[in-house]
Amino acid sequence: MGILVEKIEERYKNVAVFGQGFVGLPLSLSFSFRGCNVYGVDVIKELVDDINSGITYHTESFEGKTIQEILREELKSNRYRATADMELALKECNNIIVTVGIPIRNGSHDIKDLLDCCTVIGKNLKKGDLVVIRSTVIPGTTEEKILPILEKESNLKAGEDFYLAYSSERIAEGHAFEEFAYMPTIVAGINEESANKAKELLSIVCKVDVITASNIKIVETSKVFENVQRDVNIAMVQEFARFTEALGIDIFEVVKVANTHKRVKLLTPGPGVGGYCIPNAYHYLEPKAQELGVSLDLLRLSRQKNANLPEIMVTMLEEKLKSLGKDFKNSSIGVLGIAMKDYSNDDRISPPIEIVNILKNRGAKVFAYDPVVPTVYDFKVEKLDEAVKNMDAVMILAKQREFDAIDLEYLLNNLKNGAVIFDAKSLFIKYKNELIEKGIHVMSI
Ligand SMILES: NC(=O)c1ccc[n+]([C@@H]2O[C@H](COP(=O)([O-])OP(=O)(O)OC[C@H]3O[C@@H](n4cnc5c(N)ncnc54)[C@H](O)[C@@H]3O)[C@@H](O)[C@H]2O)c1
Repeated sequence: MGILVEKIEERYKNVAVFGQGFVGLPLSLSFSFRGCNVYGVDVIKELVDDINSGITYHTESFEGKTIQEILREELKSNRYRATADMELALKECNNIIVTVGIPIRNGSHDIKDLLDCCTVIGKNLKKGDLVVIRSTVIPGTTEEKILPILEKESNLKAGEDFYLAYSSERIAEGHAFEEFAYMPTIVAGINEESANKAKELLSIVCKVDVITASNIKIVETSKVFENVQRDVNIAMVQEFARFTEALGIDIFEVVKVANTHKRVKLLTPGPGVGGYCIPNAYHYLEPKAQELGVSLDLLRLSRQKNANLPEIMVTMLEEKLKSLGKDFKNSSIGVLGIAMKDYSNDDRISPPIEIVNILKNRGAKVFAYDPVVPTVYDFKVEKLDEAVKNMDAVMILAKQREFDAIDLEYLLNNLKNGAVIFDAKSLFIKYKNELIEKGIHVMSI
């Protein structure tokens, strides 16, 4: 790979990254292949064992190498090791990066994992350590919640005995290595020294600007705004899609045309908004807004609209099948793609999974195929054919490489006559006329 192991200043040589998930593992490997000695810490023992055996299901790659290849190389070099032994990692390392998230469950946040993680860090903190929080948080969390825990557990003074900074994580899954290196990184510290040290540490991985903001709340808030603006943009585009549908024109082409304007950046509509980041963003702002007495009406409405999309998708299909005289209750529905977004193995907060559950609740039989998502579900099938042949309808809900290769001939040979294709990804729109000619009903979003 075109990555060179660099000469790392001694004080930044040892790094412990807490959380070895979608962010933490590629981030750890990025420090490792630049020359740091890295402990990747996680509470899930099986995950740690898998990683140490060179196994990960992530779909990242960098400079022509898959994450699996990078992982095996770094394990072999002995620069990287996963561990569940937090005390060991904290004893060995004086640079600590936290990537443990704040899950949203039933609309409210659960900060326990993050605070538990910081409690262990606090208990084992040494003089001179640097702690960088990289999780996406409710604005204020670093200074109002994490700092007091670290000080209390360690009996050390932040900014004097140890250093504390926050740096927002801005990667998109699938582009992690690339974006750690080439997306500007934003950082702020509880004091200048903390910010400077964090900047030096993060510069090992970030090869473009590491920008220092004036205070931590700016970075925490900017991160959540970056995500929530996508939620609002998508809600708006979904409304546009209902308009274009009624008008009889293609929303994807409208978006493409509109985006030729230099100051327009519409996102594309889809079967819902998924993953860890965008659906959670509103819920990270809401508790702080309540505390501050600030209204977030537009953001709340956008979130609700996007959260309703899976229901809307199923209703659209149900109505279509009904209009064709088919009984939705006993129909067989194939689903292609259950990841939360295209080309991902991540099925957390995944609209396709929600759609499958709604389909099943409404009595349909579901056969879902995704060649990349490793999670086991009773509705999953092993081969593409099983989700296409003999189906009354096939929904395309997330793209995967294998689906990109599906051609017209395959569709014509395998789709049942009179079947419905609900193409939420505009993947087969290019075959629309030929499919309709052969008696296939094509629905777009
Ligand atoms: N996934 C993304 O693309 C992305 C992008 C930008 C920001 N973020 C943010 O980054 C953070 C991490 O996201 P993720 O997608 O990697 O989450 P993840 O769920 O994939 O990984 C988090 C890991 O932390 C581990 N963990 C939980 N408690 C722990 C503890 N006490 N000590 C050590 N490990 C512990 C979990 O077992 C899990 O493996 C979140 O705040 C998220 O909002 C994620």
